[in-house]
Amino acid sequence: MVASPRRLRRITRVLVTGGAGFIGSNFVHRTVGTRPEVEVTVLDAMTYAANPANLAGLQDHGVTVVEGSVCDVDLVDRLIRELASSADRGEAAVVHFAAESHNDNALRDPLRFVHTNTEGTAVLAEACVRHGVHLHHVSTDEVFGDLPLRGSGLPGAEDRFTVDSPYRPSSVYSASKASADHLVRAFVRSHGLSATISNCSNNYGPRQHPEKFLPRQITGLIEGESPRVYGSGENVRDWIHVDDHNDAVWAVLDRGVSGGTYLIGADGERSNVDCVRALNVLFGRPADDFVRVTDRPGHDLRYAVDPSSVRELGWTPRYTDFPEGLAATVRWYRDHRGWWETSRKDAESAYRDREEVLG
Ligand code: NAD
Ligand code: TYD
Repeated sequence: MVASPRRLRRITRVLVTGGAGFIGSNFVHRTVGTRPEVEVTVLDAMTYAANPANLAGLQDHGVTVVEGSVCDVDLVDRLIRELASSADRGEAAVVHFAAESHNDNALRDPLRFVHTNTEGTAVLAEACVRHGVHLHHVSTDEVFGDLPLRGSGLPGAEDRFTVDSPYRPSSVYSASKASADHLVRAFVRSHGLSATISNCSNNYGPRQHPEKFLPRQITGLIEGESPRVYGSGENVRDWIHVDDHNDAVWAVLDRGVSGGTYLIGADGERSNVDCVRALNVLFGRPADDFVRVTDRPGHDLRYAVDPSSVRELGWTPRYTDFPEGLAATVRWYRDHRGWWETSRKDAESAYRDREEVLG
């Protein structure tokens, strides 16, 4: 999409969609903690992925929580109209995190992903056009598909994703996010929407649902169970701490050009096997004490992000020591057993139905 000239935004009011989930709730905490002048409203459908405890106590800091769906045209229109009319001391923005976010679930219920991720984004974009509100769309590096493993000698093996990488999504999750990115760009070009897009790599940190890779292994280890790695475990993800992601989102909100796309990553490429070895060491266990289980169909091999577009905005990651960030995350899960116990049970019963331990 065609980018407009850069100018500084002074955002004083945000509607955070998906603010009761992992990254969105960390965004709300960080915004309340570092930008007390910003008024925050959360719109969240409170699906299985949300946890009301994620926002506990924030109402005392002026955070308003609305339970509802980004696909609800009338509700979204009302909230964005209110956001526009009350932002006279600065600018308003929608920060759009809400999504169905788990690839394994997309294998079982793909249409839900299309509905929430694709249609929901279009509903928000249309309302933002109508009321002249800026939209920041939080997307994923998975829209670019995957890369060959480093050192394999295959074309692209030493590449990372850039803002010019072609879209090649492989799952319905990543395809639904890719469609949403395209819709945002179309609303910018043909409807005059003010919008920015960020595509971030894999996040870790507190409040991530135990269905996801690192929390699944961490909570399992706390319960005394061995980590479970899909297939060969050589798949590589580019890990970033959730606070670094959210600081980068604020950098884009403040200084990103409308129509611009920013790739967020923290030079954190690691294979899944490396991750479980690091976790085993943190738990005082033999590094190679993990099991291999049924692989994920269509499993992407490697993601890697060239973050120069967001670094040009002055952002740099603070969590540059992965084992240290991982150790802090493990401490959070040890200290918050009540937060994850039930959701872990639910996630595990679905996993165990379809996983077999490989010989
Ligand atoms: P999450 O699953 O933890 O949270 C998603 C939140 O969205 C939940 O609170 C859920 O209740 C809410 N939601 C779902 N459907 C909704 C609807 N129809 N209306 C309103 N709310 C709805 O996800 P996450 O990991 O926090 O991811 C947040 C965003 O960041 C997603 O858009 C995801 O694609 C993107 N992203 C995630 C990662 C990652 O590593 N987790 C990396 C890059 C980008
Ligand atoms: P996940 O957290 O689902 O994120 P994404 O699919 O968006 O990258 O998975 C991260 C990686 O970990 C991915 O390669 C799949 C793998 N994985 C396992 O090996 N074991 C598990 O139990 C899970 C949930 C994921």
